[in-house]
Amino acid sequence: MPADSNIQIESVLQEERIFHPSTEAQKQARIKGIDEYRKMFKLADADPDAFWAKAAKEELHWFEPFTKVLDWSNPPFAKWFTDGKTNLSFNCLDRHLLNGNSNKEAIIWEGEPGDIRKFTYKELHSEVCKTSNALKSLGIRKGDLVALYMPMVPEAAIAMLACARIGAPHSVVFGGFSSEALRDRLNDGEAKLVITADGGFRKDKTISLKPSVDAALDNNSCPSVKSVLVVKRTKEEVSIKPGRDYWWHEIVPSQSEECPALPMDSEDRLFVLYTSGSTGKPKGVVHTTAGYNLWSHLTFKWIFDIRDEDVYWCTADVGWITGHSYIVYGPLSNGATTLMYEGVPRPSNPGAFWEVIEKHNVSIFYTAPTAIRAFMKTGRTLPDSYNLESLRLIGTVGEPINPEAWMWYRDVIGRNNCPVVDTWWQTETGGVMISPLPGATPTKPGSATLPLPGIQADIVNAEGDPVAADEGGYLVIRKPWPGMMRTVHGDPKRFRESYWEFIKPDDGSLIYFAGDGARRDKDGYFWVMGRVDDVINVSGHRLGTMEIESALVSHSSVSEAAVVGRVDQIKGEAIVAFVTLENSSNSSDALSNELKEHVGKEIGVIARPAEIKFTDALPKTRSGKIMRRLLRSLASGKEVTGDTSTLEDVSVLEKLRS
Ligand code: WT7
Repeated sequence: MPADSNIQIESVLQEERIFHPSTEAQKQARIKGIDEYRKMFKLADADPDAFWAKAAKEELHWFEPFTKVLDWSNPPFAKWFTDGKTNLSFNCLDRHLLNGNSNKEAIIWEGEPGDIRKFTYKELHSEVCKTSNALKSLGIRKGDLVALYMPMVPEAAIAMLACARIGAPHSVVFGGFSSEALRDRLNDGEAKLVITADGGFRKDKTISLKPSVDAALDNNSCPSVKSVLVVKRTKEEVSIKPGRDYWWHEIVPSQSEECPALPMDSEDRLFVLYTSGSTGKPKGVVHTTAGYNLWSHLTFKWIFDIRDEDVYWCTADVGWITGHSYIVYGPLSNGATTLMYEGVPRPSNPGAFWEVIEKHNVSIFYTAPTAIRAFMKTGRTLPDSYNLESLRLIGTVGEPINPEAWMWYRDVIGRNNCPVVDTWWQTETGGVMISPLPGATPTKPGSATLPLPGIQADIVNAEGDPVAADEGGYLVIRKPWPGMMRTVHGDPKRFRESYWEFIKPDDGSLIYFAGDGARRDKDGYFWVMGRVDDVINVSGHRLGTMEIESALVSHSSVSEAAVVGRVDQIKGEAIVAFVTLENSSNSSDALSNELKEHVGKEIGVIARPAEIKFTDALPKTRSGKIMRRLLRSLASGKEVTGDTSTLEDVSVLEKLRS
């Protein structure tokens, strides 16, 4: 049963507004109307094997057909599409060439200082093949892990596809992570090669990447890494170590354009992506070839109802799962045009997003609630000054969206005639699980609405029993689905324990617990409230409180630390750290800043606490557990309610209050 298990679902707001898909949206859509959705849902529920088999055969190319749809003989370790052979890179590239779409634009890239690069499917295919051959020339073979630590340049997508093409799983590490965080991930996955760039552009500045790779590899601290491939982006001076480091432009362009896609087993590892959990170090979430391909493909097709003429743009970074599934693999597997943008809105160009939409006639726009809330704050004059007429569908991802932001998005960006899709999912789920379908699902502001066909989502209490409508509980998934993570890299026990044994129903059934609290209303609509474990969601970035605490206590002045999230109007949550010092007289603003810097260096700037609160002691139970619930209330300036009788020393709470 979950630790700090009293879910407080705040503001059970009575949201009565409902928006039906327009007749036009409905007419054009693949899934036309709620009845059609319900029919699909029933079909998938009644005979999941038949439903998934049909989808897999229709949507993917197979070198060899699969013989079994789902092998669930050793739960929770699923095998999908047994004996089948396929290749994600083939599905994203070659088959579109075979279908006569060679000259369709695959990637439109807009770089930060305004440079634009475009790749047709044929050009992308050729770049990917050359890169695959370059990887082979560096000794990369099937099964070797390749790490990517890249800015948002086309080479990032090219490298991912090149890895998939030759069966080398990738591990993309977000470019904002520190060299320490990179080193941990390289070692955990035993990466053979790192693909990086000299640096990248971020908010009118450059960030350096290659120097961080050098720092991570220093003193042979990542013995598995044999070589480093470096894209020239910022043209800043970086050191190149002969025999280890290679410039991309020196070895990729001269390679052959031919590199057949290797037929991969359905369950061959496709990638590892690290994400934060409530305990310990980040987990390497493992996804495999066929199931992930099908799920990212199918969800993209359903939710964005993609059409040939669409220009689709997701503002995420390829370093996160959203970038994997909905910048690269989902769109390209569907033969869509996907836009990659290196920049972000910033004081010198607050209209950056709207400018990109206008310039490239973006028709589908997918972004995070944090961004929407930031735009709301600066008002509608700015977006109103751009022509956003090309938009026909808008979506959000990554964190709960408050109804006000949802309404603003629909009204100001969607001009009240674009369906809004609020998509709930996680790194672990591979693709979206709960979302409206634009031509089918009536939407309610703030609700991710209904689970996709084949997804058995439910809300249960700590014992695993379903709760009544509108009652808060744990969001769980009852049946396996193709895009599910397969294990935690190197730690199957942790996979079982953290996801499948956290909630144990009496009947012994295995259910997947996602870490989120939610409620379901009388219409069956899901309202996701956010994490109920010790994970904080800052601007859609997922961080474990334990990681930040470990970073803090690794500083010589710190004795103990407890990290919690407090409500933030823009970012959703902000990080607050309660810190006790080795020597309490040292508390000062200077030290507070130093500790923030220290966390930035240990993990990355996204993990820097917004606030450090020095305290003489932390509130603990008699068994020594920190009572985070109390700290969360204190951090948000709220009255501490609920049971405090297990507190070892009540005076600690009194002191913290004052
Ligand atoms: C956590 C997963 C999903 C890709 C990006 C983040 C939160 C995500 C929603 C949503 C409410 C959401 C959950 C989830 N989350 N989407 N539409 N409504 N919450 O992936 O880093 O694995 O984080 O993001 O808390 O557990 P991630």
